[in-house]
Amino acid sequence: MIIGQNLEQAGEFLRAGQLVAIPTETVYGLAGNGLDPQAVVRIYEAKNRPAFDPLILHIASLDVLPEIVSEIPEKALLLAERLWPGPLTLVLPRKPVVPDIVTSGLDTVAVRIPDHPLTLELLKRLDFPLAAPSANPFGYISPTKASHVAEQLSGSVAYILDGGDCQVGLESTIIGFPEGIPTAYRLGGLTLEAIESVAGPVQRLPHSTSNPKAPGMLQSHYAPRKPFLLSHRSAPGFIAGEDTGYLLFSDPLPGVAPEKQRILSPTGNLQEAAQYLFSFLRELDKTAAHKIHAEKVPDEGLGKAINDRLLRAAAVRD
Ligand code: TXA
Ligand code: MG
Repeated sequence: MIIGQNLEQAGEFLRAGQLVAIPTETVYGLAGNGLDPQAVVRIYEAKNRPAFDPLILHIASLDVLPEIVSEIPEKALLLAERLWPGPLTLVLPRKPVVPDIVTSGLDTVAVRIPDHPLTLELLKRLDFPLAAPSANPFGYISPTKASHVAEQLSGSVAYILDGGDCQVGLESTIIGFPEGIPTAYRLGGLTLEAIESVAGPVQRLPHSTSNPKAPGMLQSHYAPRKPFLLSHRSAPGFIAGEDTGYLLFSDPLPGVAPEKQRILSPTGNLQEAAQYLFSFLRELDKTAAHKIHAEKVPDEGLGKAINDRLLRAAAVRD
């Protein structure tokens, strides 16, 4: 496994059917040739990901979209034109060229143009889209640094394209169009308000864990390995013994050692909180603490997506 910024080399590995970790504005992706079923199988294996959980295809420009989708609803086109490149994934009817394994057999495919200069340049040099889930073992916290990928997937990626720290820090917001109605399948790095300002009202899906529309909506997901409690700082038991690490929004906990606390945004900025959420969770998962206690952030704008990830991290696991 190599870490670097050599687009030539990364492209060669991808053309040969191997996997390359790519930086995006949201999180790092584990990428392979999205039109090559064998490369896509390697992605599922590397992540230990169940085959019922479909992948996102990443493209460099809007011109490529008609090659992989059969239909683009008017509102989808509007969103794509205004908000790509960016943390927005659109679920659209697929063309037969997209392998079944990419879509888990669904007749729709998820697509986005990521907003990262290195990855955009890489995509421009390839004549196929990149299938890329987040570059973490299935169910674990998504990676926002090249080192996160190296720590967990070094055995299965040929190359890690190091694009620095992810600026958004939350996965893309996923919008589908069942019966033509824009519908949020997963909250993410672009607020629904921003999407609604372009496309009008967006339908919110009630959470379903048995038959999730987007398995990113599975109840337990994005989870650290240590026991994780989501509560209020004033709740009984929130401030616990020496063996506890804390993930906090803007204010430190008085009386708790600074090294046991991570403050998402000292100024109370939700964008900053999103950016650090996953790396702080990983840090706390690595400290000597035996458990992690976290508090919710204000439930507005990006805070809704942050709270969604915190809730899933806290969900009871099988
Ligand atoms: O920001 C992101 O979206 C990152 C970067 C790498 O682009 N990718 C990412 O991929 O988060 P992943 O695989 O961790 O999450 C993709 C989600 C899954 O929950 C999957 O179920 C959903 O997209 N998805 C993919 N195809 C779908 C489809 N046809 N219908 C509904 N949901 C779909
Ligand atoms: Mg993921």
